[in-house]
Amino acid sequence: ARKYRIAVIPGDGIGKETTPEGLRVLDAAARRFGFELELTEYDWSCDTYQKTGRMMPDDGMDRLKDSDSIFLGAVGWPGVPDHVSLWGLLIPIRRGFDQYVNLRPCKLMPGAKTPLANRGPEDIDFYVVRENTEGEYSSVGGRMFEGTDREFVSQQSVLTRTGTDRILKYAFELAMTRKRRKVTSATKSNGITFTMPYWDERFAAMAKQYPDVTTDQFHIDILCAHFVQHPDWFDVVVGSNLFGDILSDLGPAVAGSIGIAPSANINPEKAFPSMFEPVHGSAPDIAGKWICNPIGQIWSGAMMLEHLGEKAAADAIVSAIEKHLAEGGPRTRDMGGNAGTVDVGKALAEVVGRG
Ligand code: NAD
Ligand code: IPM
Ligand code: MN
Repeated sequence: ARKYRIAVIPGDGIGKETTPEGLRVLDAAARRFGFELELTEYDWSCDTYQKTGRMMPDDGMDRLKDSDSIFLGAVGWPGVPDHVSLWGLLIPIRRGFDQYVNLRPCKLMPGAKTPLANRGPEDIDFYVVRENTEGEYSSVGGRMFEGTDREFVSQQSVLTRTGTDRILKYAFELAMTRKRRKVTSATKSNGITFTMPYWDERFAAMAKQYPDVTTDQFHIDILCAHFVQHPDWFDVVVGSNLFGDILSDLGPAVAGSIGIAPSANINPEKAFPSMFEPVHGSAPDIAGKWICNPIGQIWSGAMMLEHLGEKAAADAIVSAIEKHLAEGGPRTRDMGGNAGTVDVGKALAEVVGRG
């Protein structure tokens, strides 16, 4: 049988609750479509940090390197500063494995409820394509003269030509596979006067290579407003690391709940493993109650299967989510129900297994 090695990192908080449900549904898909998933679980988390002083062991990246994909829950927990936990685990994996595309679908599923009045599934169906290795998340900078009046901190935004062109190209290629063939660029070239005009310049050059793709661009501030007022304008939205981060929480909020939003950290060249995780974090406010929504994790599993070449199985998971929501299946509180995390996972695994 076809076999894939999956590194599983549940991480912190609700990551420990959503990951098992993601695996439950993946297992149902594997049985039905006749492939095997060989799982290796790593307990790397803020708990581990409290015990060992490290988020992952020194050879952590080596251990992950030979897996076909990484399936991650969430990272971050009160008591360990976020910049320590995230820059000790999540960010090094994204950067170290050159997962330069962060692909985040925002889609209103029939049966899910948008907070926007008079909007339906036909109005909200787009992708945020987030640059995932450079931009505002750089390690150029630091703190000087600590504790004195001259104290000084800086963190440079870094845009490389290669890094900018490859994410723009990915966005245009994605648009070519879609009906509307439209790419929107998130910019801020009126305020950020070195990096963003450069981004615009590269965007215009890339657009020339794709005469069949319609383009537009908006400054990030008004773009946020348009997400709320005109979500129907968007098809593929490409942005720098920080802009993409912001838009990919706003998009899912507009599409019903951050709890269903999936993401794929992709190295398209497949030189390194890619990583699949929900958009949301560890949700300390609801962790431990088993009431979180596992759909973001489960949908991320579908994106992983698609990346591994198991397209039919991936489609089966996405249509199971669609069917489940459309037919009024159990849902968690964030979607207006009162089902538990495990109820939703089991219901979806059942639909996927049955076909
Ligand atoms: P969060 O996404 O964890 O939570 C934001 C809000 O959304 C909370 O009210 C939470 O209860 C709710 N929520 C999130 N996921 C949900 C789900 N599946 N079902 C129902 N409700 C859900 O964001 P935050 O509070 O800003 O961050 C908490 C911690 O997670 C921080 O340490 C942060 O750095 C980290 N974080 C990690 C990731 C990641 O691992 N990729 C992403 C975002 C935040
Ligand atoms: C995300 C998260 C991370 C990010 C944080 C936790 C570092 O918000 O995956 O969207 O900013 O990339
Ligand atoms: Mn985010």
